[in-house]
Order: sequence, then structure tokens, then C-alpha cells
Amino acid sequence: MEGKDILILSFSHSGNNDALAHRVAEELGARHERILPRRKSMPALMLDLLLGRVPRVTPLPEIAEEYGFLILCSPVWMGKPLSPLRVYLEYLKKHPLPYCFLSINGMGEGNAKVEADLTAWAGKPPVLCINAAIKDFMVPDITPDTKKMMDYRLTEDDVASLTGKVLDLLHTVV
Ligand SMILES: Cc1cc2nc3c(=O)[nH]c(=O)nc-3n(C[C@H](O)[C@H](O)[C@H](O)COP(=O)(O)O)c2cc1C
Repeated sequence: MEGKDILILSFSHSGNNDALAHRVAEELGARHERILPRRKSMPALMLDLLLGRVPRVTPLPEIAEEYGFLILCSPVWMGKPLSPLRVYLEYLKKHPLPYCFLSINGMGEGNAKVEADLTAWAGKPPVLCINAAIKDFMVPDITPDTKKMMDYRLTEDDVASLTGKVLDLLHTVV
């Protein structure tokens, strides 16, 4: 599949996932759009997750119509992909478009329920679920705690090295 057939949609609260999505899109030659929810404060995002709400976002999911593969990128909070992705996952219930989930978050694969949530929300599993861990980028002699993980911002070098790993995995499915 060519890059022009791939759409990457990213939501990010503090920038890490947008930075990763941007770089992966550049390398693939794919289109990248940022997901903008109407309410994007931390409490609003957390409430959406806790109450299982599907928030209003732009771009509308129909943006995916012209593409053959969708990459949905977001952090994981409270063990779940963030709610702004749900609009597109709902869309996938009615459209035979394969998708991949991509995330840089605190614990990576330690978030054991992410794939099950995606599958429930989209009615089908992602063809690939890439869950990278921030702790892998932190200086080894810093004991990772929750606050330090939340505060960590990927450096350009982090983004470059993670993008290489992501591309290797993506090339197994597209
Ligand atoms: C409210 C909140 C809850 C979080 N919950 C989790 C979690 O359950 N698992 C995890 O691995 N990381 C968790 N994190 C860490 C984020 O996934 C991490 O900071 C990520 O880099 C944020 O991505 P962003 O910069 O694209 O917004 C949480 C962060 C916040 C702010």
C-alpha cells in the first residue's frame, strides 16, 4: 500500500502522540490530521472516558472515506484509549476499513485492556496495536513514577527512534 492511501488521525493532550503521528506520517508520505474535540480539558476528557461518552470532534469520520488504511493515534489514560478516537471507531463498525492503533503512553504493553476496548468500540480488532512505553525513553537512573511519566515530553531523538520501530511494525501489515 502506498502512503497516499493511509490516513493518520491523532489526538494528543500534551503533544507526544501528535509528534509521533506527525513523524510517522512524514516517513510514510501519508496524510496526518489532528483530532480536535470540542471539549479538550483534562476533566472533560476524563469524564468522557468514565461515562463512556462519544465526544464531538473534528475532522468528521467521513474524512476516512478515500483511504485504504487508518492509523488512530492517542495516549492511554486510565488504561483506555482516549474518547476522541471513539467517533472514528464507531465509523469503522459500518465500513470495511482496516485500522491500526498507535500510542505512546506511560506503560506501553502494560495497558492490557487497550485492544479489547478498541475491539468493543469498533466491532473489530485493529490489525496492529502498537503501545510504546514512555518509561523506555526516560533516563535509566531516574526511577519512573507516575508524575514523571505524565510530565515526560518526547525529544526529537525519541520520536525518531520510535518512528523507526513503528515503521518496521507497520510494514508487516501495509
Ligand atoms: C490523566 C492521565 C491518566 C493517565 N493514565 C495512564 C494509564 O492508564 N496508562 C499509561 O500507560 N499512561 C497513562 N498516562 C500517561 C500518558 O499516556 C502519557 O503521559 C502520554 O505521553 C500522554 O500523551 P500525549 O502527550 O500525546 O497527551 C496518563 C496520563 C494522564 C494525564
